Amino acid sequence: MTTISFIQHDGRVDRIEDARPGASVMEVAVRNAVPGIDADCGGACACATCHVYVSPEWLQTVGPRTDMEQAMLEFAEGVQENSRLACQIRLDESLDGLVVQLPEHQH
Ligand code: FES
Repeated sequence: MTTISFIQHDGRVDRIEDARPGASVMEVAVRNAVPGIDADCGGACACATCHVYVSPEWLQTVGPRTDMEQAMLEFAEGVQENSRLACQIRLDESLDGLVVQLPEHQH
């Protein structure tokens, strides 16, 4: 199992300790009712309502955006260098302890 912390814009932290490797970060958020991840498209990389900011210390481990994700993020609000779509981050043991933040407009 891996642990992920979701930090809301207001500082609230949802720490999920039983995330299953193989699931996406979006799936973990939805399953645990983390606010701010609506995932309207169900993980098809087509809505950007699962937008998160990856904490700087995790950026390298998480890796770069896919081309499709990049195209989708061009329409998203508040995009930063560390923006990712949570449905496109697949968990494995290397991401144990991952920290992501939610954009201000998602809550
Ligand atoms: S859930 Fe729609 S883009 Fe991630």
